[in-house]
Amino acid sequence: MFEKHGVPVLRGQTATTPQEARAAAEQLGTPVVVVKAQVKTGGRGKAGGVKIAKSPEEAEQRAGEILGMDIKGHEVRTVMIAEGADIAEEYYFSILLDRANRAYLAMCSKEGGVEIEQLAEERPEALARIEIDPLVGIDQAKGAEIAQAAGFDAADVDKLADVFAKLYEVYVAEDATLVEVNPLVKTGAGEIIALDGKVTLDDNAEFRHEDHKELADIAATDPLEVKASELGLNYVKLDGSVGIIGNGAGLVMSTLDVVAYAGEEFAGQPKPANFLDIGGGANAQVMANGLDVILGDQAVRSVFVNVFGGITACDEVAKGIVQAFGLLTERGADIKPLVVRLDGNAAEEGRRILTEANLPQLEQVDTMDGAAKRAAELAAN
Ligand SMILES: Nc1ncnc2c1ncn2[C@@H]1O[C@H](COP(=O)(O)OP(=O)(O)OP(=O)(O)O)[C@@H](O)[C@H]1O
Ligand SMILES: [Mg+2]
Repeated sequence: MFEKHGVPVLRGQTATTPQEARAAAEQLGTPVVVVKAQVKTGGRGKAGGVKIAKSPEEAEQRAGEILGMDIKGHEVRTVMIAEGADIAEEYYFSILLDRANRAYLAMCSKEGGVEIEQLAEERPEALARIEIDPLVGIDQAKGAEIAQAAGFDAADVDKLADVFAKLYEVYVAEDATLVEVNPLVKTGAGEIIALDGKVTLDDNAEFRHEDHKELADIAATDPLEVKASELGLNYVKLDGSVGIIGNGAGLVMSTLDVVAYAGEEFAGQPKPANFLDIGGGANAQVMANGLDVILGDQAVRSVFVNVFGGITACDEVAKGIVQAFGLLTERGADIKPLVVRLDGNAAEEGRRILTEANLPQLEQVDTMDGAAKRAAELAAN
């Protein structure tokens, strides 16, 4: 991604086996290569996931050590074999979204390669922060201002400004909310190179970046989250035992709180197993898909469906639940105790539909607190 926008980087190839790593090192042909764990978390170096190798044989050996390692809960399945850099100095540079100021923020320091959070806390003066007007961006002049604010020598300012401008291009063109380079290095020959990069992409812009799909690390994503995302559901797996379905992100967030609170008084203190927002106007299919994903979670012992009818009428939701039961029974899904709370638009009619349908293991509770308590109790028992 950096290469595409002209940011200077070192050549590198990825490998998933030690043999591939050796071949990659041979192909690069530089006297020193670096074997780097490809995991979506920082601090790889400290965890032993970045190692120097001075021959293809050694690259194979180092790759063998790094592949399969666990770095902060991420299993290393791929390594990058990159050219070794002749590092003279390590710097830090990042661009991020500054929501509070409705602008972007560029941060830069002459002291890179280190934990930037620690630097920001202990010596904030060593970290320059420059606001970036989104209508202007980082041009050569703004880039120079950033480099000067970070205290760089005049001789380096132009070269740095050029790299900053290109990194800004990455930020905008790729719809990122973070572009961080730590370290940005100056080589013995005085070149500026981005040695390590972290980019956060804005999901909301996914539709205009077909090529971002291939960057998703599906193997490292929870299989239920993958399934939910394929079904177009807004689902996040959590580690409790009460499945949650609601309409509207705000309602679902507060449902998580209420369930966690209610769970405190029961054995094992059951907690929410997931976040799932079926959105407004959800139909039976969406309800069935949502229930299907949640029931597929082995840890789930009860499910709480919390719907407040606004634009979505509760009778429609009730019909959806009834149809969902039909679909799930057809699929042979293992149904677990379900607590439903319907309120708001057409709640009476919705409750009547559910009562008449007389579905197995389904209970209705009229209040959110009461329903949360019952769902937690069912999960505890
Ligand atoms: N190609 C390279 N050539 C020489 N040294 C390198 C190379 N890549 C990384 N290093 C060294 O290893 C250190 C750690 O590498 P890198 O910053 O890529 O990973 P990291 O530890 O995960 O960083 P972060 O904590 O910022 O995520 C760098 O600060 C640098 O000193
Ligand atoms: Mg780094």
